[in-house]
Amino acid sequence: MAFLLTLARGTFAAMMVSGGGGAHRQAPAASQPDTSQITAQMVAAGRGIFHGQGGCFVCHGGSLEGSPVAPPLDKKGKPWMAAKDGTFPEIFRVVTHGVPGTVMIAHPNGISDALATEVAAYIWAVNHHSVKP
Ligand code: HEC
Repeated sequence: MAFLLTLARGTFAAMMVSGGGGAHRQAPAASQPDTSQITAQMVAAGRGIFHGQGGCFVCHGGSLEGSPVAPPLDKKGKPWMAAKDGTFPEIFRVVTHGVPGTVMIAHPNGISDALATEVAAYIWAVNHHSVKP
């Protein structure tokens, strides 16, 4: 999708030189074409944002296990809420648009779209590729 092409531009070069060597990178499935752009580097960067600059861990827990104020993001079979089916674009949409009427604000801690792409990649990979939270 065009917006992902734009947002992922910064990491695209890294993906090309990595040669797809990321342990968790897989060929794109027909139902998830956007995720072909997710690299191990993006996931690692997203992990840092989740536990650092983005402050996500404060509400969602250090192991994505959730808390009294926020749902788990390591679903382990539990249903998604605002992010609907838990696809990469849906997770990205929630991070960049928030969930109106809740404390899940758009761009938590003021993270940029580029950082939101990486943190969404991390959450997606935890749920779809057994990446450790
Ligand atoms: C102040 C607490 C708080 C912070 C900080 C926060 N969230 Fe949330 N988040 C929530 C709440 C509450 C919800 C559930 C909103 C609802 O009722 O649907 C949520 C929902 C979500 C969802 C959708 C979950 C689902 O089941 O569909 C995602 C994805 C998400 N947050 C990602 C993030 C990321 C990434 C960050 C950091 C950049 C972050 N959140 C920071 C409170 C927070």
